[in-house]
Amino acid sequence: MITVHTAAERPDLWKIGSEAPPVWPEYNRHGDVLNQWWGLLDEELPEFQFVLYDDGAELVLAQGFTGPLAWTGQDEALPDGIDQAIEQIFAQRRSHAPVSALCALAAEIPQGGRGHGLAAEILSGMRKIAQRNGLRHLIAPVRPSWKERYPLTPIETYVRWRRADGQLLDPWMRTHERRLRLPAGPGDRAHRPGRRPRLVLGTQRLADPP
Ligand SMILES: CC(C)(COP(=O)(O)OP(=O)(O)OC[C@H]1O[C@@H](n2cnc3c(N)ncnc32)[C@H](O)[C@@H]1OP(=O)(O)O)[C@@H](O)C(=O)NCCC(=O)NCCS
Repeated sequence: MITVHTAAERPDLWKIGSEAPPVWPEYNRHGDVLNQWWGLLDEELPEFQFVLYDDGAELVLAQGFTGPLAWTGQDEALPDGIDQAIEQIFAQRRSHAPVSALCALAAEIPQGGRGHGLAAEILSGMRKIAQRNGLRHLIAPVRPSWKERYPLTPIETYVRWRRADGQLLDPWMRTHERRLRLPAGPGDRAHRPGRRPRLVLGTQRLADPP
């Protein structure tokens, strides 16, 4: 059985999850704003970080990262992207401001554990964390996980690509759309690229250039 445990409840399991090999592509590990805050998530907001645990096999399968913030429910009031979301989360936490939404920040499944449907379990875990903390909304500044495969395609185009069956091409966005029952359609308001996406400055030297 797969169970959800927060870093506050089971720091031992959280530590095991955190020691797993990095899951991110290199560029993604250099967020100028995000990196200032990332290491403080389990220190200051341990009840919002969690692992998926396989009780039978006694294995940590995945980690979920989230944080609470105030949101009115209006599109216009959404944070501009994950950088602004994480700044808002820490500012509101530190000032004890009332919060109403849970913001998904990341899902991490080690390479060997992918492709078994765990992505949806992580989103269910986030839903549970929101409910436990009395948060009415779950919002997600999603990183489309296959975008790097199409470097020449503008993000505005990529996020709207759909397969012949009508589902989104991007697997991680597709999981969100299906699992969170997002409204799809011509407006596609759920798939609007962030107004101020994450800032990553730098040059990446590719080991195997395309
Ligand atoms: C994104 C991530 C959490 C998804 O987890 P996963 O185990 O690969 O996903 P799942 O097995 O639950 O599958 C989710 C969808 O992706 C598809 N998928 C997964 N691996 C695939 C592959 N190798 N080829 C094609 N489709 C694939 C699944 O078919 C599924 O879509 P479907 O339900 O429409 O069939 C995981 O890949 C990961 O940790 N990546 C690195 C970190 C990251 O990018 N996190 C997301 C941003 S926060």
